[in-house]
Amino acid sequence: MAYYFRLGQIPPKRHTQFRQPDGSLYKEELVSSKGFSGIYSNLYHIYNPNEVKSIGNPTPFSWEAAKQHGLNQTHLKTSGLEITGEDYLSARRMLMMNNDVMMGICTPRQRKMDFYFKNADGDEIIYIHDGEGTLYSQFGKLEVKKGDYVVIPRTTIYRFEFKEEGPLRLLVIESQGPIETVKRYRNEVGQLLEHSPYCERDIRPPHELHIEREKGDYLVQIKKQGFLHQYTYGHSPLDIVGWDGFLYPYALSIYDFEPITGRIHQPPPVHQTFQAWGFVICSFVPRLFDYHPLAIPAPYNHSNIDSDEVLYYAEGEFMSRKGIDRGSFTIHMGGLPHGPHPGTVEKSIGAKETHEYAVMMDTHRPLFITTDALEFVDENYPMSWTE
Ligand SMILES: [Fe+2]
Repeated sequence: MAYYFRLGQIPPKRHTQFRQPDGSLYKEELVSSKGFSGIYSNLYHIYNPNEVKSIGNPTPFSWEAAKQHGLNQTHLKTSGLEITGEDYLSARRMLMMNNDVMMGICTPRQRKMDFYFKNADGDEIIYIHDGEGTLYSQFGKLEVKKGDYVVIPRTTIYRFEFKEEGPLRLLVIESQGPIETVKRYRNEVGQLLEHSPYCERDIRPPHELHIEREKGDYLVQIKKQGFLHQYTYGHSPLDIVGWDGFLYPYALSIYDFEPITGRIHQPPPVHQTFQAWGFVICSFVPRLFDYHPLAIPAPYNHSNIDSDEVLYYAEGEFMSRKGIDRGSFTIHMGGLPHGPHPGTVEKSIGAKETHEYAVMMDTHRPLFITTDALEFVDENYPMSWTE
């Protein structure tokens, strides 16, 4: 959900005759959310979007909660991890989950997908920690690069092509509910307000259509209810000549997020970037520290009584934590206090600015690490506040 946008050719009136050069009708498809009450877009296809050539056997595609992990402040050390799998889907290693959200990493060996993907279970945020490339979807081409949050609404059919040179590392978030901009930053018609840390100019929709007219076999792997369903079509699903509406993928760069600072320590909601059902996403970016003469830049101890807090450390020095690397996750569980490591509070006094980048996810319901995450658990972390 961002703002109204259109690309390509569309008829002046929706649900009316719109003809191809050969006189046949374009096939209109309404892609809508919340029945007919949420955001939607109208797409115009060359071919019939229902015309399936074959349906293969579904293959399991799900993760299991490591319930025995219990109540532990958790550090997942994933920084040394390079290739996590062969392709964009088999490389997904979801590391934490609950009924609202899953979060994990993905570093595929194959940088150009030779199939299309549709997530029918949830909206996705693909945070590009390292890498650069193009998202090809039914809504057109979108160039993406390091630092981008790429928001992909559910059922968008897409494929990524990442450049071969340089590192590639993706943070993957899958949300049961829609991923939205933050409500308190929007006015009554949805425009982002003056005090929002980003505005519409920072939101990048697909910039040009990408139309594949050639017939042939096109595989779309559809994620639904814990399986990948193999749908082969006799035409490309990227056969859209035009679309308009509010529902489309877009990118927002963490480098375009303007931090909100104060005289004393500001709480995480000032960093909020997205909202969804049961969780929020926040961006920690380089900023000036608090300017009260007696300010303590390091955060205070915190008891999150009804949420679990995940930080993914993207870039820079994290002054309040020791032993944390680029690519680390910390999960501070509700029910235990957490705070700066010993010595880091005193050390922070007088510091003027930070150069850190981190992506935070706070969930309202308890989060489990997955059995896939167990190998990355730093066993020393729960005791790391004890000198
Ligand atoms: Fe906290």
